[in-house]
Amino acid sequence: MEIVKLTGQIGAEILGVDLSKDLSTAVISDIRQALLDNLVIFFRDQKLTPEQQIDFAERFGPISKSPVYKTLDSHPQIMPVVKEITDKDVIGDTWHTDETFQATPPLGSILYAREIPPVGGDTLFANLYLAYERLSPELKKQLESLRAIHTSDFLNANAQMRNSTRSTKLRDDVGKINTSHPVIRTHEETGRKLLFVNQPFTFCFDGMSREESLPLLQYLFQQSSKPELTCRFRWQPGSMAFWDNRCTMHYAINDYPGYRREMHRITIQGTVPV
Ligand code: SIN
Repeated sequence: MEIVKLTGQIGAEILGVDLSKDLSTAVISDIRQALLDNLVIFFRDQKLTPEQQIDFAERFGPISKSPVYKTLDSHPQIMPVVKEITDKDVIGDTWHTDETFQATPPLGSILYAREIPPVGGDTLFANLYLAYERLSPELKKQLESLRAIHTSDFLNANAQMRNSTRSTKLRDDVGKINTSHPVIRTHEETGRKLLFVNQPFTFCFDGMSREESLPLLQYLFQQSSKPELTCRFRWQPGSMAFWDNRCTMHYAINDYPGYRREMHRITIQGTVPV
């Protein structure tokens, strides 16, 4: 297995692994370490059935089902992320960490590319450890004692309208999901601190109004998506990305009107952020 870094700060391609095979515990442990070291890892030229993608994902923990998006009838563990030729919109075209409105947001997501436009449809990833480390000591100290309210409201608002312009569908029964998380999270495996807020789901600081919270939140959102903290992945059919959802954000670029893109996403169950 060879690990080729994509940038100085985040992302690596893993070469020499066939994910359709029954991988040894040692290889899975190397992949997990590569994920912890690089925050998002990429594989290319994989030929995977839905069952093989599920088998691979389960090596990293139990699969969690999205409480908000529809999954495949045939494989409820898989959430299709699809843009049809006639669709205008996609999901994920804003910097976000997956489903932080859950009490236990996913540990990670595994996204497999089945059909990709000839050009465009790249995904960006950002390093939230660095977003924290670059803040001033005084601001770090202030944020240390704060928690923030994360909510699914952004998704629920105009769900019908959203479903009408894109093929990745919100479920009809999405209720309001709210939770509170520490603003500075400590990654349970690496022990490193990171900035755990994101623009679509973090509504306000716990105990403050939205108006009071927004100026500082906006600053933190901006800081955590600086180009120096990011990498950009160009997909091909058979590519797979596996991101650590505890310490990254990502952004799906909707720049391929008139082309189809089909991905299969599986999320691994996470723990309560501390
Ligand atoms: C997502 O936010 O999970 C979608 C990412 C993508 O389509 O590249």
